[in-house]
Amino acid sequence: MKIFAHRGLSGFYPENTILAFKKCLNLNIYGIELDVQKSKDNHLVVIHDEKVDRTFIGSGYIKDMTLEELKSLKSSFKDFEDNEDCKIPTLEEVLKLFKPTEFIINIELKNSKTKYKDLEKDVIKLVKKLKMGKKVIISSFRMDSLKKVRKYSSKVKIAYLVSDKFYKLRPKFLIFLDLINYNFSYVNPNHKLVDKNFIKKYHSKNLQVLCYTVNTIEDYERLSKIKADGIFTDFANIFPLTCD
Ligand code: G3P
Ligand code: CA
Repeated sequence: MKIFAHRGLSGFYPENTILAFKKCLNLNIYGIELDVQKSKDNHLVVIHDEKVDRTFIGSGYIKDMTLEELKSLKSSFKDFEDNEDCKIPTLEEVLKLFKPTEFIINIELKNSKTKYKDLEKDVIKLVKKLKMGKKVIISSFRMDSLKKVRKYSSKVKIAYLVSDKFYKLRPKFLIFLDLINYNFSYVNPNHKLVDKNFIKKYHSKNLQVLCYTVNTIEDYERLSKIKADGIFTDFANIFPLTCD
């Protein structure tokens, strides 16, 4: 089972920060997951929500703030307010942290609500600049965005994220057609959607199934039994591991 630290070791440290990612470096896990968006001045930044309000002391949309403004914000988690490793990191900073390691980085394009111009192009450009094409997986809930990713890179591994809401609306044969035609490697579903049949269907098309967000041993064991390929968890330090 591949274990991914969801937003870093986010069960214990402020999510999507250098600190939460550094805390993964000594874990025997397959990789980490992060969310990427764009600042007003076009920098790729790592943060989950479209607004800074929940995780930082401040208010406003990422798309309306410059990198300098975003970098000036302090973590809203009391114990980490003054920790320099708890600022909003750029994607480049996080990728460079993992470059010398064996970790796989699942980069989620956070573009369901805000449609960032050239997000796909800029992420691929950076990954190529750092020569990390073999170390990343690019995921998104938006199929049109993932098709753009494929346009910019014929080789990068792609994962289609599925939640209840979107999955139920789309005819399954259309999903399969896209996944095969665009040579996707993974489907990343909400773990509640996953049963034996789900896994069987995707495995038969040579796709691996990475489930989010799995935070209990019961869910981990259930998914393990039905042969899910991996999980994203906020507690990557407590799950049994086999890295393959
Ligand atoms: O990539 C899996 C998972 O992170 C998707 O949901 O809301 O945690 O970004 P969310
Ligand atoms: Ca995510």
